[in-house]
Amino acid sequence: MRHRMPEFARRLRRLPPVRCGVLTALLLGVTVATSLTAQPADAARYAIIPRPAVLEPRSGEFLLTARTIIHTRGADTMLAHQLARDLAPATGFALGVSTAPARGAHIVLQRDRTLDSLGAEGYVLDVTRERVQIRAPQATGLFYGVQSLRQLLPPAVLRDAMQAGVTWAVPAVRVVDRPRFVWRGAHLDVSRHFMPVDFVKKWIDLLALHKLNTFHWHLTDDQGWRLEIRKYPRLTEVGSCRPRTLIGPFTTSEATRRYDESRHCGFYTQEDVREVVAYAAARHITVVPEIEMPGHAQALLAAYPQLGVYPDSVIVPMQVWGVSNFIMNVEERTIAFMHDVLDEVMALFPSPFIHIGGDEADKAQWKASERVQARMRELGVKDEHELQSWFIRRMDTYLASKGRRLIGWDEILEGGLAPNAAVMSWRGTAGGIAAAKAGHDVVMAPTSHTYLDYYQSANKANEPLAFGGFLPLDTVYTYEPLPPELTDEQARHVLGAQAQHWTEYMRTPRHVEYMAFPRLSALAEVVWTPRSRKDLGHFHARLTVHMQRLAALGVNARPLDSR
Ligand code: ACM
Repeated sequence: MRHRMPEFARRLRRLPPVRCGVLTALLLGVTVATSLTAQPADAARYAIIPRPAVLEPRSGEFLLTARTIIHTRGADTMLAHQLARDLAPATGFALGVSTAPARGAHIVLQRDRTLDSLGAEGYVLDVTRERVQIRAPQATGLFYGVQSLRQLLPPAVLRDAMQAGVTWAVPAVRVVDRPRFVWRGAHLDVSRHFMPVDFVKKWIDLLALHKLNTFHWHLTDDQGWRLEIRKYPRLTEVGSCRPRTLIGPFTTSEATRRYDESRHCGFYTQEDVREVVAYAAARHITVVPEIEMPGHAQALLAAYPQLGVYPDSVIVPMQVWGVSNFIMNVEERTIAFMHDVLDEVMALFPSPFIHIGGDEADKAQWKASERVQARMRELGVKDEHELQSWFIRRMDTYLASKGRRLIGWDEILEGGLAPNAAVMSWRGTAGGIAAAKAGHDVVMAPTSHTYLDYYQSANKANEPLAFGGFLPLDTVYTYEPLPPELTDEQARHVLGAQAQHWTEYMRTPRHVEYMAFPRLSALAEVVWTPRSRKDLGHFHARLTVHMQRLAALGVNARPLDSR
């Protein structure tokens, strides 16, 4: 059980700076009054999640038929084929892709540099009776336009086999859209329970459908090391298997614990990782790997105890939840080992950010060890927090020398933050606020609004066993990532927010889906939609349709009428 800080029900005290000024200037004929008025009657007809920045309903509809052709230019033929492939199973249409100029009733995907001010991720979608036209300055925007188009079709379009008797109508509309934040993330812990590659790809598909662009892959922890590192094979030979796993709720007393008495194993080969990273890239998603240090490292220390404070210990990956008291030592060879690991990580993951964990490092072993204390004097650091800072700085300098940036949980602020580092604020928002004020980039991930391992209902008896907190759908929806304490200048350091899926109590992909959806759909709107367009009632009206999409995709979402 991760130690979580008390929850603070945050109240919004003032409006955050408006971030869509450019967009307002780009309404392209759409009146502000129309775009800013919530129209629940239209919600079911235009049930796009996350809600677009501007959506102007039009009358009529475009009919997709077997004769529809997707027109595009060279660079975007991949996307056109991807769309044709996505539409094929349910419609039974093998839509053609053409680079010739469009004539007649067709879908057009078009780069348009006159829309540059929409940014890399913005797009304009125009649907009339005659055609569907998606324009965007860059490829990512076109991709998001296509995601909106998929959501305007009947939900059955997402099914995997031919649907009889469905009219494939797209309601006429004009959408002008771009995201509010650049970091729109979902984290997945595969250490506590390993998740197979097929599920990771399904997860990525679901992120893409929600216009989320960052997959934070929590690959290592006390309970399992899940990434092949060629230089250090024992990490997976030893670190990827625990002999047994706690069943039921966490208890502090060993006497009352029950175990499943079966091994839990699994890791990703480097080939698996390359496939996942490429699969994500094709969906405009960056995979941010997390390698935990110097704590949450019991699986690593099981494989290489010489990196620990007590090298002679016999260690196995942790079989219960909670934080291990094992921690890495601070010898140069340990730093070198972790640099070697990061070399292989950087070769696999093109992400500008590499996550080094840094949370909940239990410093008791550092305090108790004469060797560590001597090393602290040698390094001139005054306490264990500074020592952790020194450790993190060594990683930061290394990553920076390779053109990457370090990101870590907000504990990396304690004892002084490495200059280039970014902070993921999970213990509330105080860490994020402090970091942004000091000029560091921040990703908001507070337990209060983004920990989707918490219960979804106050009626816990009706829910599968979960981590202790309570975080209902509407609370996720009402989250505001920009803290009112920040000036406009400081708020620019808030890159965005993400949802956390710690899997202590999620043994299977189906259970991850149950915890993630529909709350992750709400989070998608938090990070994409302009604040002025967020409206809980409107969201619920669209969500009713969106649940049919999730069902069509075989997602085990928690039903809306659950109590
Ligand atoms: C965390 O939940 N320890 C980041």
